[in-house]
Amino acid sequence: MERAWPGVIASSTLPAAVLFPDRSIAEPSEGLMRLTGFTRSELVGMPLCKLLEMGEARPDAGQPGRLLTKGRGTAPVAVYLSDAPGISLAAFHPLEKETALGAELKAAMERLAARERYIEDFRNGVFRMITDLDRSESELKGALERLCETRMQLMQSSKMTALGELAAGLAHEVSQPLTVIKGLSLSMLRSLQQGSAHFEKLSLIAGASKKMESIVKHLRAFTRSEPTVMKTVDLNSVVRDAFLILREMLKSHSVETNIELREVPAVSGDPNRLEQVIINLVANAKDAMPGGGTLRVSTGTVEITGRRYARLVVEDTGEGIPEELIGRIFDPFVTTKEAGKGTGLGLSITSGIIKEHRGEIRVESERGRGTAFTITIPSD
Ligand SMILES: Nc1ncnc2c1ncn2[C@@H]1O[C@H](COP(=O)(O)OP(=O)(O)O)[C@@H](O)[C@H]1O
Ligand SMILES: [Mg+2]
Repeated sequence: MERAWPGVIASSTLPAAVLFPDRSIAEPSEGLMRLTGFTRSELVGMPLCKLLEMGEARPDAGQPGRLLTKGRGTAPVAVYLSDAPGISLAAFHPLEKETALGAELKAAMERLAARERYIEDFRNGVFRMITDLDRSESELKGALERLCETRMQLMQSSKMTALGELAAGLAHEVSQPLTVIKGLSLSMLRSLQQGSAHFEKLSLIAGASKKMESIVKHLRAFTRSEPTVMKTVDLNSVVRDAFLILREMLKSHSVETNIELREVPAVSGDPNRLEQVIINLVANAKDAMPGGGTLRVSTGTVEITGRRYARLVVEDTGEGIPEELIGRIFDPFVTTKEAGKGTGLGLSITSGIIKEHRGEIRVESERGRGTAFTITIPSD
């Protein structure tokens, strides 16, 4: 049995050797010769410590060591020593391959990690893209909503323009028969005796048609769209003119009207546009008092640092302007009124007109108590 060992080892492709008791090589294997490059005769008798560099040798430990090779330096191996009684065996497991494998494994792991990082980055990128897309989609939705709203408001304001044209046409149509009614009633009056049967009624007709004529005349002037013409204007007469149109409308909405006209300095302006300002402010005041209330319109003079200004105040006892809205009410298309009722253009047009007159418009408002718009225009 003992004799069979060396033969088995000698033909083995594993790098191994049978050792003499003094730990010199008795029988090297084919594998060991191939690994070290030494011939059998060179190896036989070689002390193990000459062939192998290693620390303290422990049996069966697979400890690292380095095998001497012929002309190729040393090769790393794991060393297995068996000290079975009667026979000593050394086997070597070359580590070169393992190192290469390890390096390959490491590289593959790194490639895998890089790939994982790439996938992670890609995933993050896609995620970002999706959130960006989500955001832009909601932004787009918001913009679309605003666009729709503006379109509605534009439609409404173009309806208003059409309405203005209609009113102008109507005023034109009405003025003809009105002249006939007025002329005939006046000439019939002249032919009647005062106190006769129809005198009273006829003078009422003549008076009413005169009043209607002034309203119609005024409506025609107001609806005519002409470029701004600056001339010397008396603000008080602008207020009076405006109320020719407004008075009945206010009455039918249970709005009590107090007009206080004091002395005002003449200003340079366009009476038509200033009247539009008054109509806009009064219409808003009326809308703010759906259950009725009191409207106060007053004029006067203010002096600031030696300069005289004409002042107009339009005050109502309505619902007031919400605090969060007050900074924006002069912006176009800002409205709290339902579609068909408001365009949100009134105050923006108003402030534009006041600017054209080098004037100022201010607003004070208290929720539930009312609102006051104050306009000052410098006199020349
Ligand atoms: N006197 C007022 N009292 C209360 N709110 C007002 C008054 N005047 C204007 N506002 C507010 O300002 C908004 C803008 O007015 P305006 O520009 O005239 O547009 P619109 O009357 O078409 O809504 C109104 O919708 C309303 O909410
Ligand atoms: Mg308005």
